[in-house]
Amino acid sequence: MKQGAIIGVLVLAWIICGPSPLIAKVTGPCFNCHTMHNSQGGEVVFATGPLPALLNNECKGCHAGINDGSNMTPYVLMTESEPTYRTTGTEADTDTLAGGNFYWVAMGGLDRTGHNVAGVADPDSPLVNTPPGSVDGASLSEQLTCAGVNGCHGDRSVANPYKALSGGHHNNDMTVWKNGTTLALSYRFLDGVRGLEDPDYEYRPTAAGHHNKYYGEDRTDETDTAEGTISSLCAQCHGYFHNGTGEIAAGTIGQCSWLRHPTDFDMAGATAGSEYSEYNGGTGTNNPYSVVSPVATADTATILNTTVFSKPDDAIVMCLSCHRAHGTPNDAILRWNYKKWPGNDGYNGCAICHTTKN
Ligand code: HEC
Ligand code: HEC
Ligand code: HEC
Ligand code: HEC
Ligand code: HEC
Repeated sequence: MKQGAIIGVLVLAWIICGPSPLIAKVTGPCFNCHTMHNSQGGEVVFATGPLPALLNNECKGCHAGINDGSNMTPYVLMTESEPTYRTTGTEADTDTLAGGNFYWVAMGGLDRTGHNVAGVADPDSPLVNTPPGSVDGASLSEQLTCAGVNGCHGDRSVANPYKALSGGHHNNDMTVWKNGTTLALSYRFLDGVRGLEDPDYEYRPTAAGHHNKYYGEDRTDETDTAEGTISSLCAQCHGYFHNGTGEIAAGTIGQCSWLRHPTDFDMAGATAGSEYSEYNGGTGTNNPYSVVSPVATADTATILNTTVFSKPDDAIVMCLSCHRAHGTPNDAILRWNYKKWPGNDGYNGCAICHTTKN
């Protein structure tokens, strides 16, 4: 075979068998992301000293940019201009992802609009390092970080954020149901959390087309920590907002006895003739899924949940039904501006579930 033909066959083989962008583990030349000695031609590569795993950039360095639907790296921080969020962050010309964006807390100094991650934003005033709802008011030992003991991603028992993430990026496979058994098999490197990951991180999501599938649990007991759910991750810091004796409800769903808004409870438990059966404009069977106020499901199949009230426990209220994880333009990191409703900038996303309250 001629050399050109051999290369052609190799290229074809790479296209067929090689990494598909959908699999989304990191690919490409090592030097794109690593530096062997933090030195190149005698110049320092990363200004403030060598980083763990020989990285040439920090988390926020690689994860800052403008999402345009073709980027492989999910961008969670825009620095130069304000992201297009519109009313709910899901409109057709928006450019934030499922977690929202740190722009407003980082660049706008609006503490209530995001998690004040160290190096990204100054410490929150007045919350500082105490997560509201933390068990017995406990504070983190230092400002919130992306990963590790004081962060959300990675192994939360490991202090160093990079070590806490070790092996995540190179072993990621976004086509499988993340069952939480290893870090790479955890939803978005949130250790132990389960779910199905939208390949473009909910860039302009649609209900029938593409969005994340969140794992939830229909609890019967307010003390159940519901391991593996996205809400249980939030509960690792905001404990009492999710579970604890006398913290959530004295009874069960459908009995008007909530002490804090229910999460990890299935709305179907309250549907018979209730307002919830009309979730997102439906009738109580196969209602359309909502990307504005999404619900979690106990279903662990690698198939997208495009309807609600179609399977047992597929209408589970979660923290992310109302909040985003990183930041939004709204106070309390809400998906929509609930304080300004009714009004031009406001929106009553609550009505996606509370269909008779307006
Ligand atoms: C697109 C960016 C990117 C590219 C390209 C890349 N890496 Fe990495 N690598 C990372 C990140 C980020 C980490 C640290 C966090 C983690 O482990 O998830 C890492 C961690 C590692 C680790 C330690 C953790 C592990 O998985 O074993 C090794 C070893 C490694 N890379 C080797 C390589 C080699 C060799 C290449 C080239 C074939 C390469 N990397 C290319 C981003 C990249
Ligand atoms: C050298 C660049 C680089 C660095 C440094 C880096 N990342 Fe990433 N990260 C990437 C790329 C590229 C992807 C997309 C490919 C993938 O999923 O592995 C990614 C994906 C992710 C994802 C999505 C995973 C999924 O399952 O969809 C998370 C979460 C993440 N990174 C968190 C972090 C955190 C936290 C840090 C710091 C501890 C970090 N990254 C450091 C380049 C980087
Ligand atoms: C590692 C601990 C940790 C985890 C996990 C965590 N948070 Fe937080 N959260 C904090 C801390 C600390 C604060 C207070 C400082 C700040 O706002 O950054 C906070 C503040 C908040 C606020 C109030 C923002 C404000 O300034 O008014 C909201 C809302 C919130 N978190 C929601 C969530 C949700 C939803 C999740 C799960 C997706 C979550 N948090 C997971 C630590 C955490
Ligand atoms: C994803 C669906 C969903 C969204 C979005 C939602 N709720 Fe709820 N909410 C429920 C369910 C389900 C219950 C429990 C109903 C029951 O037990 O009968 C509930 C309970 C409540 C209760 C307590 C009612 C009682 O009888 O104890 C209040 C108040 C409430 N929600 C207000 C709100 C507000 C305000 C918003 C918007 C910020 C909101 N909810 C958004 C589903 C939702
Ligand atoms: C039904 C919608 C809804 C759900 C579900 C929800 N929240 Fe909230 N959350 C809100 C609203 C609205 C606020 C703003 C304060 C208010 O109006 O009560 C808020 C405020 C907060 C705050 C800031 C409190 C403060 O003192 O400033 C934190 C932290 C928070 N939520 C975390 C969580 C966590 C963690 C979960 C899941 C266990 C969760 N939320 C579930 C609607 C919700």
